[in-house]
Amino acid sequence: MKELDKYIESNRDRFLGELKDFLSIPSISNDEASKSDVRRAAEWLSAEMNRIGMENVKIYETEGHPVVYADYLHAGKKPTALIYGHYDVQPVDPVELWDSPPFEPVVKDGKIYARGSADDKGQIFMHVKSLETHLKTNNTLPINIKVIFEGEEEIGSVNLEKFIGNNKKLLKADYVVISDTSMYDKDLPSICYGLRGLTYMQIDVTGPNRDLHSGTYGGGVDNPVNALANIITQLKDKDGRITIDGFYDDVAELTKKEREEFARLPFDEKKYMDDLDVNGLFGEKGYTTIERVSARPSLDCNGIWGGYQGQGAKTVLPSSAGAKISMRLVPNQNPEKIAQLFEKFIVKIAPASVKVKVTSLHGGKPSVTAIDTPAINAAVKALKEAFGVEPVYFKEGGSIPIVNTFKEELGADAILLGFGLPDDNIHSPNEKFDLGNFYKGISTIAYYYEELSKI
Ligand code: BES
Ligand code: ZN
Repeated sequence: MKELDKYIESNRDRFLGELKDFLSIPSISNDEASKSDVRRAAEWLSAEMNRIGMENVKIYETEGHPVVYADYLHAGKKPTALIYGHYDVQPVDPVELWDSPPFEPVVKDGKIYARGSADDKGQIFMHVKSLETHLKTNNTLPINIKVIFEGEEEIGSVNLEKFIGNNKKLLKADYVVISDTSMYDKDLPSICYGLRGLTYMQIDVTGPNRDLHSGTYGGGVDNPVNALANIITQLKDKDGRITIDGFYDDVAELTKKEREEFARLPFDEKKYMDDLDVNGLFGEKGYTTIERVSARPSLDCNGIWGGYQGQGAKTVLPSSAGAKISMRLVPNQNPEKIAQLFEKFIVKIAPASVKVKVTSLHGGKPSVTAIDTPAINAAVKALKEAFGVEPVYFKEGGSIPIVNTFKEELGADAILLGFGLPDDNIHSPNEKFDLGNFYKGISTIAYYYEELSKI
């Protein structure tokens, strides 16, 4: 057994205890009431970084939640890797669907259940423990390392974007290493080489100046809920194609080679449907499920409101309605352009009988990492060593918009080494993280630093 693994092995229980402490802090970034807890998570991380021997540990203030920075730059001409991750988490609602409280981590069947366990606190903690393993075993790190953890990824990373722009020298690195994605499947180590972009919109529809009796006025006045439903159903056709004018103009078509590679990935449609308990699948005609969820754009209504939602029946013609709509984007779609096309289309199809307001909430560009590079080959070696199997390459349907900022501002490619699993319930009740992946992830990352020192 390698010295590094001996250290991990003999500190397993302590690592788990610390992970539980970290996951107990409710660092929900979109919740004003959790603001001090978000800061507490940043302080916890920086204390931990100091404790393991990282240097220049600092909490940088932003206009929003703080950024945690640390470095260890004693490897001379060896490469510099910038480790990025986020310590903020998604809200926990609907909390009644959790089997155990989201911020009281429990271990069951080799998995740890808590909000943020996989996305992304558990995964950034693997990096901290890999650094500790090197520092305590070898008294140094094999490459130069900078670490940046933010508290606003789940709300669009707006302040981090500015921070990167203003601190290019501080953050300068050859590679960015990120563990905020999943493996393609259990026991199948994976390299994620693409992420979708995002445009997130809100539609507000207003009708009469007050709620009306649906008997007195129904049939004579347009109903904002009906009008909104009508608008939403016009955004996609029956073949699952998005109907917004110009939406597909910049979409890079899949190459024959890429389609062949996707087709080689293991995919069991029945298992997929059984896991979700759905009777059928739906998506863009002419594409497989893997293609639809990773390499083709999508449009989804994330939430919709308006009118009476209480018990029983109340006859009312509501005065307003609204919806939140996200579009996942692929190369070479531009989030701002898509936001404009969306607004233009809504204005075009909206009935004159209601007022419609369209707002852009946030967005991010898609990203792709070239796979035939020394840094990716080093990751392949590290994954193979830790998991004993050859990794697969795939694209994630989710988004990490800042990946593109790192490329544009620092010129650095991101290596996405994720250890989550597709059924980790991220953004959903009962989020979990596989502890086998947690420990193997710590080893993989520790090996990866060694591999990067050789290139
Ligand atoms: N960790 C996810 C990204 C992700 C999602 C990776 C699914 C792999 C699979 C990240 O924290 C996230 O949720 N990002 C948001 C971005 C948004 C808030 C700008 C997303 O994809 O919705
Ligand atoms: Zn995440």
